[in-house]
Amino acid sequence: MTTTGFAAVPRVTRVAGRVRVPGDKSISHRYAMLAAVAEGESRLTGYAPGADCAATLACLEALGARVTRGSTITISGRGPRGLRAPSAPLDAANSGTSMRLLAGLVAAHPFTSVIAGDASLSRRPMRRVIDPLARMGAAIDAIDGRPPLTIHGASLRAITYQPEVPSAQVKSAVLLAGLHADGLTSVKEPTPTRDHTERALEAFGGRVVRDGDVIAVEGGQRLRAITADVPGDISSALFWLALAAGTPDSDLTIEGVGLNPSRTAVFEVLRRAGAILDVPADLPPEAGSDRQIPGEPSGSVRVRFGAPVSFEITPADVPLMIDEIPGLAALAAMQPGVTMTVRGAAELRVKESDRISMLARGFANLGIRVDEYEDGFTIHGGPPAGGEADAAGDHRLAMAFAIAGSRARGPVHVLGADAVAVSYPGFFAELDRIAQG
Ligand code: S3P
Repeated sequence: MTTTGFAAVPRVTRVAGRVRVPGDKSISHRYAMLAAVAEGESRLTGYAPGADCAATLACLEALGARVTRGSTITISGRGPRGLRAPSAPLDAANSGTSMRLLAGLVAAHPFTSVIAGDASLSRRPMRRVIDPLARMGAAIDAIDGRPPLTIHGASLRAITYQPEVPSAQVKSAVLLAGLHADGLTSVKEPTPTRDHTERALEAFGGRVVRDGDVIAVEGGQRLRAITADVPGDISSALFWLALAAGTPDSDLTIEGVGLNPSRTAVFEVLRRAGAILDVPADLPPEAGSDRQIPGEPSGSVRVRFGAPVSFEITPADVPLMIDEIPGLAALAAMQPGVTMTVRGAAELRVKESDRISMLARGFANLGIRVDEYEDGFTIHGGPPAGGEADAAGDHRLAMAFAIAGSRARGPVHVLGADAVAVSYPGFFAELDRIAQG
């Protein structure tokens, strides 16, 4: 197996031992961006190694932040509104988080910048960030609401904003713009989404006001550089959790994985699907006024195979596990006699690919029956017969097909397997290691 565009998937018969996963992508983006507008030099270990977070670093460098790379990443902050005009378009590559969050950050700076991306990102909807940032006073040009974005930054005014779709990226873009706006910027969330921006702002010494479903930041705050270790990415860990949960006789521990409560709802779904999960009970206190140390909890998670059960992901579940749905689909696809139904997940159609139709097509090519709906799908468990599944340039689909494929009856190939480099460059090497026992 290699991480070329065409990967032969190894066969897995049991999953045991210990695994570490790459640093969390969401946290890495946020620490890097806040470091660039903080005062002093931030030092980050465990920074996500994939192409997405590399794109953020390159954009920040182009905006004048000094960055050194290695096992520790250092970023010299330029202070509040201290970024400088880039001399060329910023390249967010495949990364929606880079584009949407950077849009919020640069909107408050008095210069024009262009943020572009690859073919997949160029198809993704950006009105969701353009609208609130325009209300704050930035002028943003796009092509029918899609990238590239040309952002004419300005002195921003605070707003109160209620996003139409639950989105951590939209919330974060508005809060990052609000950090440098005049007044108190508030976001009222339709349903809660991951809170890494709020925690990161606090880690950098910023103040965030949380009041029920409203999150607010006062403009003009100064941030201080941090030294921090980024925990493992639970969305990457989920693929191994799914593989162990779906493989008889398995017992796997994932070490050092991020356990932020706004990301762990997927554990409950794994349990509903029959997996036996041990999660540390002694996590730091939840976000709240009595919390002393802002940060990101982490720990080890142990998963064992349990009797497979059919399971559902309801519309209310979706916002807190949107990235985990392909991995959960892989779990269902491995299990004989099991179904998984997802509804209320139309957002999947505007991710790195149309994750509903591409997932359905890929699994169908492996011999799995999938019923497709406008807002979700039902997978009828396998195991897969074998065949070729096309990742459609989508890192999470590449991993989902490989995980399900490793339990197939016949040979499985993943086309476009190199997409894993976006979030998990060592994924196939780890799968080979696990397959060898
Ligand atoms: C992310 C938020 C989610 C998620 C994406 C990362 C983030 O997107 O799917 O992979 O880091 O804020 P939405 O904001 O569109 O829900």
